[in-house]
Amino acid sequence: MEATLHPIDLLIEDVHLATMAEATEPYGAIRDGALAVADGVIAWIGPRTAVPGELRRTARRRLSGGGMWVTPGLIDCHTHLVFGGHRADEFEARLKGVRYEEIARAGGGIRATVRATREADDDVLRAAGRARLRGMREHGLTTVEIKSGYGLTTEHELRMLRVARNLEEDTDVTVITTLLALHALPDEFAHRREAYVELVCREMIPLAAREGLASAVDAFCESIAFTPDECARAFAEATRHGLEVRVHADQLADGGGAALAARFGARSADHLEYTSEAGVRAMARAGTTAVLLPGAYHVLGADRTPPVELFRVLGVPMAVGTDFNPGSSPVCQPLLAMHLACVHFRLTPEEALAGMTRHAARVLDLEAAGILRPGARADLALWEVETPAELAYWIGANPCRGVIRAGATNDPRLSSLLRDV
Ligand code: NIG
Ligand code: FE
Repeated sequence: MEATLHPIDLLIEDVHLATMAEATEPYGAIRDGALAVADGVIAWIGPRTAVPGELRRTARRRLSGGGMWVTPGLIDCHTHLVFGGHRADEFEARLKGVRYEEIARAGGGIRATVRATREADDDVLRAAGRARLRGMREHGLTTVEIKSGYGLTTEHELRMLRVARNLEEDTDVTVITTLLALHALPDEFAHRREAYVELVCREMIPLAAREGLASAVDAFCESIAFTPDECARAFAEATRHGLEVRVHADQLADGGGAALAARFGARSADHLEYTSEAGVRAMARAGTTAVLLPGAYHVLGADRTPPVELFRVLGVPMAVGTDFNPGSSPVCQPLLAMHLACVHFRLTPEEALAGMTRHAARVLDLEAAGILRPGARADLALWEVETPAELAYWIGANPCRGVIRAGATNDPRLSSLLRDV
């Protein structure tokens, strides 16, 4: 790309780059690299020794990375991080042997968080969400997807989506929202399943689409939640309104969720512990990405792992998410999800990082993110590590030394490295 077209706003040098482009080098690495940003976009990337002189002369700001690694800013494509209260009591109950499904059937689980979320006003929800998301940004996150699903009335579902949207302004993290009204059957509809599905299809989906409050519709397709037929009705409605489809699929049993996702050309099917080979094949044909959520697997003590080897063989891309939620996955750090994906699901550290960058971008339809290349948005994370494998290796450490979003940063951790010229 022509380096002289735009003035260079930022030139980053003395760094190693994990571009995550599919290349022969692991991590698409460029050792001793340089990266130039113009108008929020990567204008040039390559080895330091090849930086065009013109580009060097016009750079207004420089960042000298002291040998750190730069990756695409992390993208968490599956969270439920706006919610009221917590469920530490259920954590204790599960440790005594009560199962997640039993808690859900007894009115706890998701429905307990629904009660707490409805009771919390916007300010309370927003403050809690802000604290959670700022914490994730400290750990290298620049984009997050947030689902509704703890409101379960038109008013409260849309409210959750608005609160989630507002977090972008509070945290400087890009927020993508998903309507997950088919998360649990609300108590008011206890014996009227159809009426609730009808409400979701007739009112919530059209309103969310019309008000631009969600990019996708998700549904929990499971015996403790909604049937494939109920989910299919909502997905048909989503498609009619131009919204993408995503599915919580086959987490606790093989309910045909992956095949359902494929049938609707879903962007992703998520969880997938019990997905059959036929389900994986359907996903491969439809181009549906698998989202692995090892936090829920870990916390619920699940006994079956997703068919990772089959995803590899059939070329189904694997994203990794935290699934940050107060019940099955109180996982607040993207790197921890990557670690759990390696240890439990046997992903390589490189696959885990691709799952939080390139493949997560694919799930969220962010063409210009998740890979460091000319034309991509300059969303970056800087890490004090010797090799990118360390990102999935340490448990609970934070090697992140700063984030840059669309080429700009007010991250205090970077101020000593930046120089205006
Ligand atoms: O992705 N599976 C459904 N939804 C969440 C759990 C939410 C909850 O327990 O509050 C999940 O694991
Ligand atoms: Fe989830």
